[in-house]
Amino acid sequence: MTSSRPIARKRPDELRSHRWFGVQDLRAFGHRSRLRQIGYDAEDWAGKPVIGIVNTWSDINACHAHLRERAEDVKRGVLQAGGFPLELPAISLAEPFQKPSTMLYRNLLAMETEELLRSYPIDGAILLGGCDKTTPGLVMGAISMGLPFIYCPAGPMLRGNWRGQALGSGSDVWKYWDEKRAGKITEAEWEQMENGIARSFGTCMTMGTAVSMMSVAEALGLTLPGAALIPAADSNHPRMMTHAGRRVVDMVWEDVTPDRILTAKAVDNAIVVHMALGGSTNVMIHLIAMARRAGVALSLERFDQISREVPVMANIRPSGAHLAEDFYYAGGLPALMKELGGKIHGDCLTVNGETMGVNVAKAEVYNADVIRGLQNPIYAEGGTAVLKGNLAPRGAVMKPSAAEPRLTKHRGKAVVFRDYNHMAAEIERDDLDVTPDHVLVLQNAGPKGGPGMPEWGMLPIPRKLVKAGVRDMVRISDARMSGTSYGACVLHVAPESFVGGPLALVETGDEIEVDVSKRLLHLHISDEEMARRRTAWVAPHPRYERGYGRMYQEHIGQADDGCDFDFLEHGAEVPEPEIH
Ligand code: FES
Repeated sequence: MTSSRPIARKRPDELRSHRWFGVQDLRAFGHRSRLRQIGYDAEDWAGKPVIGIVNTWSDINACHAHLRERAEDVKRGVLQAGGFPLELPAISLAEPFQKPSTMLYRNLLAMETEELLRSYPIDGAILLGGCDKTTPGLVMGAISMGLPFIYCPAGPMLRGNWRGQALGSGSDVWKYWDEKRAGKITEAEWEQMENGIARSFGTCMTMGTAVSMMSVAEALGLTLPGAALIPAADSNHPRMMTHAGRRVVDMVWEDVTPDRILTAKAVDNAIVVHMALGGSTNVMIHLIAMARRAGVALSLERFDQISREVPVMANIRPSGAHLAEDFYYAGGLPALMKELGGKIHGDCLTVNGETMGVNVAKAEVYNADVIRGLQNPIYAEGGTAVLKGNLAPRGAVMKPSAAEPRLTKHRGKAVVFRDYNHMAAEIERDDLDVTPDHVLVLQNAGPKGGPGMPEWGMLPIPRKLVKAGVRDMVRISDARMSGTSYGACVLHVAPESFVGGPLALVETGDEIEVDVSKRLLHLHISDEEMARRRTAWVAPHPRYERGYGRMYQEHIGQADDGCDFDFLEHGAEVPEPEIH
């Protein structure tokens, strides 16, 4: 109910862009004359907030294919409200295409966003994106710059279709790929799925990282209410964009900067929503990085505390049965947050100038199978658990709601793969010495080792076991996995094996114990044996000798610290550029 307090409005000469356009000196002459070169006139900019529209559209990013048009919808709103819109293209992180992993480039997008907003005459920003790492990349940079901004999610694509069955991005690919490996799906059927699984622009529509992160952004208060999961192809989507364009102009006049929105309570709201959604394990990395950029201390422990208090209420694949489109029409995120009741801090400010409590007060659940109540969840605890032990002294994460329940307490012998290529060469062998009770271990797939911590954590089930009908096993790595993935996969083991974490010391035949109820991940070897192996361990050569990769490898943090660059963390002031 912030709207009830008097709102101080800036004067035009207090706008940041005034330094570029409003003063009478040699440089301002250049700035204005160059705007005139584009065809603008003083009526376009004089005394108006300049709104930078950071757009991650690209020909190669199918999830963002509509963002070129959506930028025009935003501009319409900015103009309606008396602002001056300028579109600023930024690197597009297209999850399926960019190698070795878009995670390698999340921080590059964050840097680019921060520097675009810093170095140009921008007063406020609209951030356009949604594919996995794009949301955290854009938001991290905008938080560091500290200007008023609204994040406008790309929205999920329409549900997939195959012979009248709904297909979900990722989740059904993994599922039917195993059926194909087991000889139960023909080439022709597989091709039909290829044609039907992604049938509109927009992000993955399962509870993958994209849907999870768009939702987290809304729970933080960084989107307009209900914006996170509007299907990309729904006409509500361009209307949301225009609304955001109008609103951000007022945010500039009211000086609604991100530090007023991103409080410890807002971060807790995001974690509560993440747990209730059964969100992607990747959220834990990204939210730690985002919160810390805002100066909010956040560690894995907070996720684990909240995980024990909040059940999974969103019946969406891979933990549940439905898809993002169903969730939106069932009432969407505002309805879920209303169902969460007192678990949500209702007094947090959001970008529309209202509190979260006001924003969700009128929401309703229209389909109680898709959005469950606290008393009728699909999983009794939160979607992600934090495990610790001598194998992961700084933590590891698991999504027990998406695993076969028998594997949440398990002890078995390790089969160790030293890297992805080793695993890929072994996993299809019919003579591989492996049973369903073995624990598959993948080394050197972390932030430095992958490099870029690729989504390799859902290791394939060995082919001979797939043929025998096995569909889940305990798998452990320092990699991530797609939020669309599922199974008893222990991920993000920190410190990673590439820097000498205990995961590097596991050998085939060692016994490993996983116990989710005790939050335990234990390697059953003696301390003396662990010490002996550590002494014998030889550090691998760095992955990169030059360029961005070298900078990445020298400054990237571990998973439990959010994988941010050390020099981008909260602290030092972001200087305004001098204009000479
Ligand atoms: Fe873009 Fe999944 S590939 S969100």
